[in-house]
Amino acid sequence: MADWIQNLYAELAPRTTGSVSKFDIGFLQQVITDRKPRRILELGVASGFSTTFITRMAIEANPEVEIYSVDFSDRFYADNTKPLGFFTQECLTDDELKHLTIRSGMTCFDVPEAVGDKRFEFVFIDANHQHPWTTLDMIGLLPVCAASAEMAFHDLGLYRHPKFRVGIGPKYLYDQLPVEGKKTIDHEWENIFSVPVTGVEYQRFTKPLVQALHLPWSIPQPLTPHMRQKIRNFIQQYWNDELLEAFDTTIEAFAHIAQQPICESYSINEPNQWCEFIPTTSPSVRLKLHPTTAGRGKQPTAVLKHINQDAKKLQITAVAANQSERNAGAVLHFKFEGEGATSDARIVKLQPRVRETIEVEIPQGSSSKPTDLHVTVESPKDAKSAAHGAVRIEIARPKAA
Ligand SMILES: C[S@@+](CC[C@H](N)C(=O)[O-])C[C@H]1O[C@@H](n2cnc3c(N)ncnc32)[C@H](O)[C@@H]1O
Repeated sequence: MADWIQNLYAELAPRTTGSVSKFDIGFLQQVITDRKPRRILELGVASGFSTTFITRMAIEANPEVEIYSVDFSDRFYADNTKPLGFFTQECLTDDELKHLTIRSGMTCFDVPEAVGDKRFEFVFIDANHQHPWTTLDMIGLLPVCAASAEMAFHDLGLYRHPKFRVGIGPKYLYDQLPVEGKKTIDHEWENIFSVPVTGVEYQRFTKPLVQALHLPWSIPQPLTPHMRQKIRNFIQQYWNDELLEAFDTTIEAFAHIAQQPICESYSINEPNQWCEFIPTTSPSVRLKLHPTTAGRGKQPTAVLKHINQDAKKLQITAVAANQSERNAGAVLHFKFEGEGATSDARIVKLQPRVRETIEVEIPQGSSSKPTDLHVTVESPKDAKSAAHGAVRIEIARPKAA
């Protein structure tokens, strides 16, 4: 292993978590050196640890390489004061960064549309390890593979860790895939594997993917109705009836292990270009609200329609997205409203760098009469101009409930 890899590993590894190991980097380097890919796609960026190594190793193997790294989050999941992929900005040179595109707010099902007719010779998947996500990631990314390509998957051995048994997704998939050409690391804690794939004939993977879907799902929450519909549309567009039937059957079969979504649908009133819902695989609702008018006028409001009363309580967590003084004093209002029952408005004033978590009782009206939750962010009354920066909000069931 090259000195630069050893040195960079020693410098960065203590500053991140949930990343590839030195063995895994060696494995990735082998695939990259053998294939010399022209295009690489990485799913699961986090701190940008693996992205940094992959980018530099890939340029060494092929100076023409383009790397696309995508993630649904725009922050590092273990420390949301840090942006997604921050190591790449810190460690790669400007010339190296020209080979790399990092995109947030995306799952595998957004990739084909985002990359158009680009095809990838190497795909590295290291995202959600709860089954069936790794299988879904393969379903989402096979259509963008080049005629001769290789897909690698991280965390094959995660399920052996007592704390992460739900991370059995890579193992279930690994066991279903054909033996031919399948490689894994020669280490007692095998944690990465790869399979050769042919983009043009990707539907030949239908059988192992169907088999994998039929193994017990380990996601602790169901796919949201939105995600379920998105996956169905994707399978209809890129796959076949056999895979669609397996998805429909298994999503019903394993629904009992999961909780119901917290509301039926959601939308933003008075939206602006900075407001957005952030995709999540759990039934929580994550969003960004951006007040644009200082202390007056209409402010964006997220409306969670028809709250599921079974939850009894909801937990609302808010943090100033930029973690800067700029959001200091922004005010979060929330209120249950509807035919079923209403509640008094509650207000929380946000402080810079402080994550506020509030638990609220859901008013228990008649279940046939919907109650909605309205959440608004208002910039400080004394702000001289429109407040900068957004507020990130997560609305979920309390963990212990
Ligand atoms: C284990 S971390 C990736 C670690 C990174 N590959 C490394 O070695 O430094 C997993 C990442 O996947 C992202 N993620 C989880 N589920 C996802 C999904 N369904 N689609 C896209 N990204 C997802 C998380 O936001 C997180 O950043």
